[in-house]
Amino acid sequence: MLSYQHAFHAGNLADVQKHALLAWMLDYLTQKDKPLSYLETHAGRGLYRLTSAEALKTGEAAQGIGRVLDWFAPNHPYRQRLAEVAAMYGAETYPGSPLIAATGLRETDRMHLAELHPQEYAALSELMAGWGADVRREDGLAMALALTPPTPRRGVMLIDPSYEVKTDYDRIPRVMAQVARKWNVGHLMLWYPILSDSPHRPMLSALQATFPEGLRHEVGFPPARAGHRMTGSGVFVVNPPWGLAEETARLGAMFARLSRG
Ligand SMILES: C[S@@+](CC[C@H](N)C(=O)[O-])C[C@H]1O[C@@H](n2cnc3c(N)ncnc32)[C@H](O)[C@@H]1O
Repeated sequence: MLSYQHAFHAGNLADVQKHALLAWMLDYLTQKDKPLSYLETHAGRGLYRLTSAEALKTGEAAQGIGRVLDWFAPNHPYRQRLAEVAAMYGAETYPGSPLIAATGLRETDRMHLAELHPQEYAALSELMAGWGADVRREDGLAMALALTPPTPRRGVMLIDPSYEVKTDYDRIPRVMAQVARKWNVGHLMLWYPILSDSPHRPMLSALQATFPEGLRHEVGFPPARAGHRMTGSGVFVVNPPWGLAEETARLGAMFARLSRG
């Protein structure tokens, strides 16, 4: 039984890290005139309201994108995606990763999204109906294995689990290794939380052993509230596009400045 709902966390500092890097990557890859596939294994509902009871209850968006929007110049791809979504869906909205991707992709690109939670899936299907995405209510890692290599072959896969099922930490590096064997040109981006008891460490060791050239980027931030276990977040990118390392360094410097107060 899945209980995680991203509405409580949308727009927090972990989303800022993940979504800014995703928007940058898609912007970079769409500069070449060849179509892309975008696959997302844990899509969520795709659109959030920063004035919802969930967002106001945690205050995470206010401490996140509400505080750090000016880290991004108006022409930064993340800032552009936020502006497009605000213009389309309302100023108080915040895009999930499917909508960051949809607004950054072109008509020739293809999107495949998996979401298992019934209500999140229903909201996502309705939202993405106009964007021509293939939306599936199925296990995202099973979809990843079934659809790779995708057509078109160039592309990005975002893996953004809620880690509610603790076996995710074991399963993810195995599935990523299988996917990379089948799809050696795919850019795979995994997001993970950094929690006080560091359950991500064995997963990261396995990923670094399989993908020694992978890009690991971690940021720390003040806990959302006293006693909150998440003290940072990370992404691990297999086949990082050229220039991503510089972009992560720039973003990392912003997070470091925030932590220093
Ligand atoms: C962290 S949220 C996704 C947020 C989204 N990627 C974004 O950045 O906007 C994780 C989502 O994965 C869904 N989920 C959990 N287990 C899943 C599975 N095995 N397959 C597909 N979706 C799953 C949860 O219901 C939840 O909506």
